[in-house]
Amino acid sequence: MPGSYLSLALILGSARYGRRCLAIADWAQAQLESATDVVVDRIDPQKLPLSLTDQPLPRQAWQNLERRIDHADAFVVITPEYNHGYPAALKQIIDAVRHPWRAKPVGLISYGGLSGGIRATEQLRQAFAELHAVTLADTVSIVHADRRVDAAHGFRPEPGHVRALATLDLRLRWWAGALADARRRRPYDDMPAGRRTA
Ligand SMILES: Cc1cc2nc3c(=O)[nH]c(=O)nc-3n(C[C@H](O)[C@H](O)[C@H](O)COP(=O)(O)O)c2cc1C
Repeated sequence: MPGSYLSLALILGSARYGRRCLAIADWAQAQLESATDVVVDRIDPQKLPLSLTDQPLPRQAWQNLERRIDHADAFVVITPEYNHGYPAALKQIIDAVRHPWRAKPVGLISYGGLSGGIRATEQLRQAFAELHAVTLADTVSIVHADRRVDAAHGFRPEPGHVRALATLDLRLRWWAGALADARRRRPYDDMPAGRRTA
């Protein structure tokens, strides 16, 4: 984090045709971008050549994704809940790169039915812990997303959603600054020989 601005990658979790993710991402991006010191890079699985059978990603696409994740100082992931988990497309993005996630903060926005997607959120914490990324305690959880998203109006947030995203944004900035400073002082992988982890 160069001090002057926050480089934030906004990662969409759903690649589904007709996804509600887009409307929620539009809302989140607009609120996050209301600050002038942030640059948002939207990473959209529909725009990546993801495939369950053609792995790994084509070299150029993989390098491009790695560069974008590497460039970011912080992440906001927007995930729906599918059968108590998060979508396969999101897992592919997470698994596509390894080191660029390290020692960076991840804010989680989830949505779904009655649960508001919190089971997907909790599963994401496990995956990001393995990647040495830091998931924030503060989240945004949207219950009954189907009642809050429509083609005419996009996502209609409740005041609580707006407040929760503002809190997430504050925490994300704290962690992004603290971890960027720490990475600058000492590279995360600067460990004594024999102590390096996967
Ligand atoms: C395959 C599938 C499984 C789902 N499972 C759950 C679930 O376990 N819990 C829940 O709250 N909502 C569940 N839903 C509802 C979705 O969270 C909801 O439709 C959401 O809008 C999907 O995100 P998307 O429209 O951005 O793809 C499921 C939807 C799909 C398509």
